[in-house]
Amino acid sequence: MCGIAGYIGDKQAQSILLSCLKRVEYRGYDSCGIAVSSSGIKVCKDIVRVEALTKVAPQFNGTAGIGHTRWATCGKPSQVNAHPHLDCTGNIAVVHNGIINNFQRLKQQLISEGHNFVSETDTEIIPHLIEKYYDGSLEKAVEAALLDIEGSYAIVVVMAGESKLVVARKDSPLIIGVGDRENFIASNVPAILDYTDRVIYLEDGDIGVVTRDSIRIERENTEVDREEHKILWNVEEAQKGGYEHFMLKEIHEQPKVIRDTLVEYTQTAEPVVDLERLRDEGIESMLILACGTSYHAALVGKYIIEELVRVPVRVEIASEFSYYGQTLARTLAIVITQSGETADTLKAIKRLREVGCRVAAITNVVDSSTSRIADQTIYTKAGPEISVAATKSFTAQLMVLYWLAMGYSKADSRRLASMLLELRQLPSKVQRVLDNGDIILQCARYLSKYENVFFIGRGINYPVALEGALKLKEISYIHAEGYAAGELKHGPFALLGEKTPVIAIVAQDNTYEAMLTNIKEIKARKSPLIALADEGDEAIRELADSVITVPRVDALFSPVVNAVALQLLAYYTAKERGCPIDFPRNLAKSVTVE
Ligand code: AGP
Repeated sequence: MCGIAGYIGDKQAQSILLSCLKRVEYRGYDSCGIAVSSSGIKVCKDIVRVEALTKVAPQFNGTAGIGHTRWATCGKPSQVNAHPHLDCTGNIAVVHNGIINNFQRLKQQLISEGHNFVSETDTEIIPHLIEKYYDGSLEKAVEAALLDIEGSYAIVVVMAGESKLVVARKDSPLIIGVGDRENFIASNVPAILDYTDRVIYLEDGDIGVVTRDSIRIERENTEVDREEHKILWNVEEAQKGGYEHFMLKEIHEQPKVIRDTLVEYTQTAEPVVDLERLRDEGIESMLILACGTSYHAALVGKYIIEELVRVPVRVEIASEFSYYGQTLARTLAIVITQSGETADTLKAIKRLREVGCRVAAITNVVDSSTSRIADQTIYTKAGPEISVAATKSFTAQLMVLYWLAMGYSKADSRRLASMLLELRQLPSKVQRVLDNGDIILQCARYLSKYENVFFIGRGINYPVALEGALKLKEISYIHAEGYAAGELKHGPFALLGEKTPVIAIVAQDNTYEAMLTNIKEIKARKSPLIALADEGDEAIRELADSVITVPRVDALFSPVVNAVALQLLAYYTAKERGCPIDFPRNLAKSVTVE
């Protein structure tokens, strides 16, 4: 998963390309580069961040160009493997996001035809294929080249002497930003919001020819019309809004995100997923597939749906399901994915399709690949999530799962009414968690000294323990594990002791007494213990070394307030450790490779 940018217009392309790349750098940031076209193609690329490239790049004159910020997949991060890549003549430059599965074979063939390659990447074959097929029309040559390629791609091509950019996509996102006497290309919307709020989403199989004054999109040699969308998000939303990190900004956006998602769906007359019809169609069970944080939301969803709808729910890791997953007949499959571009989840959808399963998607990115191939899509209203560590998208996903389950619940109307009331109070209760940052900061200062941490929970808060551990792992680099509290005595107890603090999620539900027992067992093994408990819980203060309190909510909603507290704990711990919070090492926002 890389970030792509392109510009063609009246202005000097270089600075525009670099500022667009800065906005998509969270997609991959191990190296970057630009190519500017005037009489020839000028390239500057290196294993640096965009900021550094901006400082070292010589000023290239030219009003058309392309740019790329990389997350290495094929070929290690290096100057020569960084994009853009050129053909033998140096007149054709290409940036690419995706993976070309048959590149080795094509490369051997091109070498046998006299082409010289300088990098280890799959991408480098594209400019060489275009060179091979070039016969006066750049777009025709690109079309021919893509016929040879197997895999996923979003590409932008520029050629010396040609005042056009040629773009194409298959299984990787690509958009065109429409300007006045200029046009922009990017992997996603935030990249171009400084310049325009008019966007065209390319579809899989589209090839576009973009000049300063025109945009023509073809599909199988037929011109197609792609709708122009006006983006309601402003640059500010895409920027940090005055917070030090995108992650902290996005954590603090959750009261609004919960409100927006609730408003969106509790006002909607038409149910998005018609369970009644599904029942008529004999749908008897549900299967939820996802990865990472979305998988943890799916696990919480299982508890919510089984509790309210009384339909059996299976939850599977998408990357596993793609290979071994079997579906029961008459199953409704739901996939959850913030980015909508996660390759493991997309592959799992294709497998579900093969077995004729109906697929509903819960995603945060409009027009993402997932929403294009799902039967129905429910959008979370989290807005752009820039920080690699997912936070607001998690609570937005939970909101959709609550809404879904309550929409088709078997619970009596009084229970539903009290739940709806409780849901409406959730934004202010989450705000109280955010306002209770001091005690969380204290615990973070304490935790930042350790290298191993356990999180435990029971019932609907077991997945929250998993999520708390994932957040701490991915941004503070502390080795954290989440466990169902009852599991500790079956092995992990061996790791307890002064060097292994435990974070215990102690909700006021039917698991409360069992959690207190587990906490006593942990304290007997000398592990420091931080409890996450409801306001007014005095008993826990006797047992825990520190207590982070959260406002009392219906047990079914406790994952929301608990998750927000654990997001803040991870954030402050990573900050104490001086970690690059928004750009954690080895990670990226949407994982578009298997
Ligand atoms: C979570 O903080 C991580 N960024 C990662 O686990 C993420 O949840 C996972 O890659 C799934 O992404 P998706 O929701 O966009 O499919």
